[in-house]
Amino acid sequence: MDITFLLNGEVVSLTGISPTTTLLDWLRETKHLSGTKEGCNEGDCGACSVMISDQSGHRALNGCILFLPQINGKSVTTVEGLSAPDGTLHPVQQTMIDHHGSQCGFCTPGFAVTMATAHLNGATDHDTQLAGNLCRCTGYAPIIRAAQAAEGQPVPQHLKTLKIPNGQTSSGGSAQPQEGRQPPQHIQPKTTDDLAHWYAANPDATLIAGATDVGLWVTKQLRDLGQTAFLNQIEDLRGITDAGDHWHVGATTTIADLETHFAPHHPSLAAMLRRYGSTQVRNAATIGGNIANGSPIGDGSPALIAMGATLHLRHGDSRRTLPLQDFFIAYGKQDRVPGEFVEAITIPKQPDTLRCYKLSKRFDQDISAVCGCLNLTREGDTITDARIAFGGMAGTPKRATKTEAALIGQPFTEATFRTAMTEIPVDFQPLSDMRASAGYRLQTAQNMLMRYFFEAQGISTDIQAVTA
Ligand SMILES: Cc1cc2nc3c(=O)[nH]c(=O)nc-3n(C[C@H](O)[C@H](O)[C@H](O)COP(=O)(O)OP(=O)(O)OC[C@H]3O[C@@H](n4cnc5c(N)ncnc54)[C@H](O)[C@@H]3O)c2cc1C
Ligand code: FES
Ligand code: FES
Repeated sequence: MDITFLLNGEVVSLTGISPTTTLLDWLRETKHLSGTKEGCNEGDCGACSVMISDQSGHRALNGCILFLPQINGKSVTTVEGLSAPDGTLHPVQQTMIDHHGSQCGFCTPGFAVTMATAHLNGATDHDTQLAGNLCRCTGYAPIIRAAQAAEGQPVPQHLKTLKIPNGQTSSGGSAQPQEGRQPPQHIQPKTTDDLAHWYAANPDATLIAGATDVGLWVTKQLRDLGQTAFLNQIEDLRGITDAGDHWHVGATTTIADLETHFAPHHPSLAAMLRRYGSTQVRNAATIGGNIANGSPIGDGSPALIAMGATLHLRHGDSRRTLPLQDFFIAYGKQDRVPGEFVEAITIPKQPDTLRCYKLSKRFDQDISAVCGCLNLTREGDTITDARIAFGGMAGTPKRATKTEAALIGQPFTEATFRTAMTEIPVDFQPLSDMRASAGYRLQTAQNMLMRYFFEAQGISTDIQAVTA
């Protein structure tokens, strides 16, 4: 594949790259820019953080699970590009020194890049911005103090005037076969139509959206992905549009964009998404990838099922829709034929009765043990509809149909909820694993019903109060 991007302001054009080379490996091994560190190589520690900029803004991403075609047409700033050309340190680098934010220093470049990206974006929610950066020796308080101290300081001129490509990219790899040549093995199509036709003809290919799952297949499982199609250049597959009575969400809309969009409409959903991975993961991960991987512990699907979302699938020129809940057939099995892909999700607009509860061992950057999303409709004091979906309770994201039935038609009282709680073990027979025991999962899922009830009475249930 051929790609072009800016690296710390300089144009880089690469031809014939292996599409599954990660940016981290390329920076360290080919460019010998070893400031960007390899810690976990799976998106968990942020040591490899880089700033990626394009027309839509500046984002911190994990270079270890970012394939080179994903930066085609973008600007990359590494830790080597933070200080000014005359060597003046970036404000966050200076405040890290002033506030003793570094000890062994291994994590420090990643922190500095994430902090500089937040600084450039004017973001001051430092706990959130830095939740994807792991430090094992300094302790976070000095680092947060360093980020706070840099807040009021001006963005350095070289970053303020950072060159952003105008959207022009190298071919990446066209979806169109060239005369007399074999069909392309790796493509980076510009339109959904091109993707649809190529994928229908090459149904064994691997689609790559944010690569927060696929990246690990390469870095951890050392898998050969065979033919690949990168979805990141397809404009008409991304973004959220207002379609009257529903929202139309393109498959490659990131979790970060979903969180921002739904914050005013469904704050509980946004609060749950805030705990999905980390800033770097949410900036890359797409909702289409989250659904398509069919994980029983993914956080997107329970919420979307509780909202009554519809999935839009496409194969070549033919399209079909189905309720999202019907997409998940069994563990590892979805209702999707070879060559078919997720094109969009539509979500009905609705009053905000949705509550999402993510339960994990750590508050930040952790996969859910249980993710419960509850959405009840009331007329007067009677519950007239209930949509309750859980992740982590079965082999797929799944609705709690018996529990819902115990609620519908009943008065909105504690007694009703206590009765409905007894249906949770009828709906689910969860497994015990490293995240939680079956008994714990059942009890906490039951408790989520009570939590919903208490919150509807205006009783505070949020005990999360740890701040820096
Ligand atoms: C550190 C870390 C933390 C994480 N934390 C969470 C978390 O808290 N909650 C959570 O739910 N997940 C979490 N994940 C998992 C991951 O972020 C999600 O599953 C993610 O949404 C996948 O999206 P993607 O765009 O990165 O998919 P990719 O990795 O690009 O693809 C995933 C799968 O979907 C397929 N695919 C992608 N797009 C499409 C499409 N449009 N149509 C058909 N198939 C498609 C790919 O071929 C692949 O099989 C985490 C991952 C990491 C690395
Ligand atoms: S090396 Fe840990 S997130 Fe990339
Ligand atoms: S300073 Fe050692 S890991 Fe952060």
